[in-house]
Amino acid sequence: MVSRVIPVDPFDLVIFGGTGDLARRKILPGLYRRFWDGQMPRDAHVIGAARTAQDDAGYRQFVREAIETFVAPDKRDAETIEAFLAMVRYVAVDATGTEGWDTLAAMVRPDTIHAFYFSVSPSLFGGIAERLHGHGIATPDARIVVEKPFGHDLASARELNATLAHSFDEHQIYRIDHYLGKETVQNLMAVRFANVLFEPLWNAQYVDHVQITVAETVGVEGRGAYYDKSGAMRDMVQNHLMQLLCLIAMEPPSRFEPDAVRDEKLKVIRALDPVAPGDIVRGQYRGRDDEPGYLEAAENPDSTTESFVAMKVHVSNWRWAGTPFYMRTGKRLRARVSEIAVVFKDPPHSIFGEDGKRRGNVLAIRLQPDEGMTMRVTIKEPGPGGMRLVEVPLDMSFAEALGEHAADMPDAYERLIMDVIRGNQTLFMRGDEVEAAWAWTDPVIAGWESRGDRPLPYDPGGAGPEDALMLLHRDGRRWREIEG
Ligand code: BG6
Repeated sequence: MVSRVIPVDPFDLVIFGGTGDLARRKILPGLYRRFWDGQMPRDAHVIGAARTAQDDAGYRQFVREAIETFVAPDKRDAETIEAFLAMVRYVAVDATGTEGWDTLAAMVRPDTIHAFYFSVSPSLFGGIAERLHGHGIATPDARIVVEKPFGHDLASARELNATLAHSFDEHQIYRIDHYLGKETVQNLMAVRFANVLFEPLWNAQYVDHVQITVAETVGVEGRGAYYDKSGAMRDMVQNHLMQLLCLIAMEPPSRFEPDAVRDEKLKVIRALDPVAPGDIVRGQYRGRDDEPGYLEAAENPDSTTESFVAMKVHVSNWRWAGTPFYMRTGKRLRARVSEIAVVFKDPPHSIFGEDGKRRGNVLAIRLQPDEGMTMRVTIKEPGPGGMRLVEVPLDMSFAEALGEHAADMPDAYERLIMDVIRGNQTLFMRGDEVEAAWAWTDPVIAGWESRGDRPLPYDPGGAGPEDALMLLHRDGRRWREIEG
């Protein structure tokens, strides 16, 4: 298979928060990897912008260290790093004052694509947007990239949208949800809409239920202050899990184009029923040995914030009426695994007697680790002794099927940044989509707050609180194992 990396057009990318953690871990190493692969052209400029006073040389040293720390050794050499650093510049700006903006205006080149990455606190979005606009830095075609959390609830998301809309049109705003940049998430659309096999079965008539699991082994250490105000519902469900749900449940868009896809996702969010209190389980991990529990990590002994949530959700439309979607996500669980499982109904009649009953097919789409898909099918157990049935996986690991190209897959951030440069918004959330997601999330959170519900403690290294298992057991179903 031949690598098909097509270089993007020259661009100037300004990273506000250029000395921050996201820039260091994801944005800068990601850009470097795109450069290494030949996708980022040599005449691009990467401009770090932050408060700290330093010169280009100082910032290049920061970028060099980021590359050396976060890029695998087989994707770097001194020559390529030097060539990349030659494209890097720095400007000290005051996001709420006047300092640095004229310098920045002089740095960006007039006839190139402009992208501005707002890797800063949302409270600074308005000030930066205004100054970019006021100093004539942002052209009508300039793109801005904003990170989650996009608001804390519907009201704050609306406010943020309104603030950005003062200076930018919707077609210029790229709201990142890095889950949409994951290879398998995009593959989900390819599987559904580039094959005839699945779509006829993709509805309540054949699908018994869907499970969406995003399990993590990490806790909240180091991010306790942010996380404690957020919790799993805001941090993961409102955005990442909701996006996965949309891609599974949406109608086929007429084209793979930004608004065609986003219109269909929006319809799914709007079709979600409110969640009944009995259909939600929240949890908080305990400590173990010398690992702190949630309450210590969050430095808030009275916290009622959840580090785990599981819920049963209904999409009220013709396609999905009667098919529940179970979602769960949590920290400090048994393994790091993100997976979507479409569990099909049992065959309507078994010609094999009891043994043939309850043998539904399962299509499991694995986002991480070991991206791939498995289809569970029933076959005859080999050998003599009559017709005994056994379930086996039809396995497709992308790494095995696609060889070295699977190993070379860009990470979510770098893929999405290249989409920004190409001006493709398909994998970014539109303002109305984010607001609709909050409009569904807010009453769920308000519900448990008004009831004064406390999250259930759970042991680290497992599958969350027992009650989360019951959520399916009482419906005669079972969660899939959390296995790395
Ligand atoms: C982030 C959340 O958006 O996603 C984190 O804020 C979470 O809490 C992370 O750990 C998970 O992302 P990934 O790509 O590691 O699954």
